Formats: sequence, structure tokens, C-alpha cells
Amino acid sequence: MKRILVTGGLGFIGSHTVVELQNSGFEVVIIDDLSNSKIEVLDQITSISGTKPDFYQIDLRVKKDVQHFFENNTVDGIIHFAASKAVGESVNEPLKYYENNITTLVYILQEMKNRKIDNFIFSSSCTVYGQADQLPITESAPTKPAESPYGNTKQIGEEIIKESCGSYNLNAIALRYFNPIGAHESIKIGELPLGVPQNLIPFVTQTAAGIRKELSVFGDDYDTVDGTAVRDYIHVVDLAKAHIAALSRLIEKRNKTNFEFFNVGTGTGSSVLEVIQSFEKATGKPLNYKIVGRRAGDITAAYADTTIANKELNWKTEKTLDEALLSAWKWQEKQ
Ligand code: WQD
Repeated sequence: MKRILVTGGLGFIGSHTVVELQNSGFEVVIIDDLSNSKIEVLDQITSISGTKPDFYQIDLRVKKDVQHFFENNTVDGIIHFAASKAVGESVNEPLKYYENNITTLVYILQEMKNRKIDNFIFSSSCTVYGQADQLPITESAPTKPAESPYGNTKQIGEEIIKESCGSYNLNAIALRYFNPIGAHESIKIGELPLGVPQNLIPFVTQTAAGIRKELSVFGDDYDTVDGTAVRDYIHVVDLAKAHIAALSRLIEKRNKTNFEFFNVGTGTGSSVLEVIQSFEKATGKPLNYKIVGRRAGDITAAYADTTIANKELNWKTEKTLDEALLSAWKWQEKQ
């Protein structure tokens, strides 16, 4: 049984990926520093899959602790989620983002090189494309100067991995996520935003729950179907399954080069107003919202061309936007 290290494995996407790894017969060991997650998620994962992953609370910024983990643990692959991910915060705290997202990546890669650990999956983001010139966005679209230090850490991270794979003969895949949303069907794991949600869907569900007075829609003067910005909202379980597909590709040595990257989205764009309408239809919950000015740094539209991911990963999304929004609402009701 292959043993896979999942860093950030108690987080939103990490926890859903751990469940899918266990469902696919992998043994899982999690490293998480609990800076943006809760230890209760470990028990929830266990209650879903029936198997408790090994868990280590480690701050990956502490090099000797990273080394100590690998001195005492053998792994066959690594899925690296651990990172800070709030776009707005990264503008105010760039050095926190470069330390937490880049230094930790370097320490993990150094261990992979030293111990000949070969299979690496990196959590990247469609943010590397900025506002793409053409839609849907393919993997051959050029990356653009990042709009935030957060986005920059994903671009730099991909470059570090690409160069390391070339020089040290490692094999890695970067998955460029679009907008992950929703919760596991068990409603035992989901998105746990700390404080005021920055992302749209948690703000929508907290507004529907009466925790927030109303949703502010950031701009309705974009060049889109209804003036509000368009994104590709992918169910987090579909996204989790893409990680299993990518890991299997590396383990079975089906990768064509030692560093590959794939766009992971549904292939369909939805505007903010369309999301609101879908949410109200799927849940029966009317939503209080108002149109306000644009949010700095936001792009007009982004949605994935999934042709290559579908073919090369033999993976495609199975869940609809309505299913994702309903699962997000059910998760919110449980909080
Ligand atoms: C979606 C749309 C907003 C909140 C970012 C990162 C990406 C990933 C996901 C980490 C936009 C609008 C939002 C609100 C609104 N980050 N919106 N009112 O900005 O597409 O992507 O988060 O994993 O890398 O770039 O996601 O959910 O913040 O916004 O109108 O209260 O909803 O303007 O059009 P975004 P988002």
C-alpha cells in the first residue's frame, strides 16, 4: 500500500483529498500546523473513511522539524497543500506569504531530492494566468505578472518545482485550480473560513444563514453576460479526485515530462448573479445582496478549457454547480 504525505491535509481541499486517497487504497500521513484548520477535521475524516490518517502537527517553516519528519517517515509521494491563501492578506503581508509558501516548498523539495521521493503534486491556481486574453483558458495560455503576492508564490512555486525536477530528476504535477466550492456529501467536512469570508461562496452561505447582513456584489460593470464577474466554480470533491488521478499518473509513470501542469475546473463560467440565482433555486433560500464597486485586483472572467486534463488525467467533473451550492448550504446549516 503506497503511503502518501498530504501537507495541509486538515484544510478545505486537503481534507477532501485525504478522503479520496483513502477511498482509493492509499495510506495517508498528514502534516498540518493548524494555523488555518481545526484538529476536529482529523476525526471527521476518520468517521467518513473508517481509517485514521497518521497526523503530525509541524510548522514546515522550521527546517529541522521537516528533516526530523522525513528521518522517521517513509512516503511514496507528496501532495503539497500547506500554504497561506488569502489574496487580500498577501498584499498586506507579502513576507508572511513568501516565507510560508516558498520556504516550506524548498524544504520539502530538499527532502525529496535527498531521499529520492519521486511523486509530487502541487496545489497551484488559475491566478497564474491573470486576466487571460482568450477564454476558456488552456494550459498554453501565457502566465501573467501576478496581481498579488499570493498569486506570485504560486508562479514562483511552479518555477522552483520545474527547475528542481529537471536538475534532480524528480516528477511533479501542478494542478491549477479554478474556484473550489462545496462540501463532502456526508456534510462532515467542508470550508471553514476563519473570520470574515473573503471568498464568494462562504459569504453567500453565511448571509443566507443570517450571520452576515447582506452580500456585497463587487461590481456589475464588467464586460460579461450580466455585468458581474465570471468564474469557474468546481466542486471540491471533483477537485480532490483530480489529485488522485494526477498522483496515479506519476506512480504509473504515465507522465510525458518531469514537470506537467493541468487546469482543473468544470469548463463552465458562472457570473456572481448566476451563482446567486442558482443558490436560491438549489436551496430555496432568498439571498440579501447589493451591488457595490469592484474589488481591487479582480479579473473580469476566468474559466477552464478542460480538454487536456480530461484526456491526460482521464478525469472530469461529475457534480453540478447546483449540487456544489446545495452542499455548501447544508454544511453551513451544520455550523
Ligand atoms: C469570486 C467572485 C468576486 C466575494 C481567489 C483566488 C484564487 C483562490 C480563490 C485561494 C469574484 C466576487 C467575492 C464577495 C463578490 N484562492 N465576490 N462578493 O477572487 O476568483 O479567486 O479565491 O485558493 O486563487 O484568486 O474568488 O471567491 O474571492 O471571488 O462579489 O463578497 O465573487 O469579485 O468575481 P477569486 P472569490
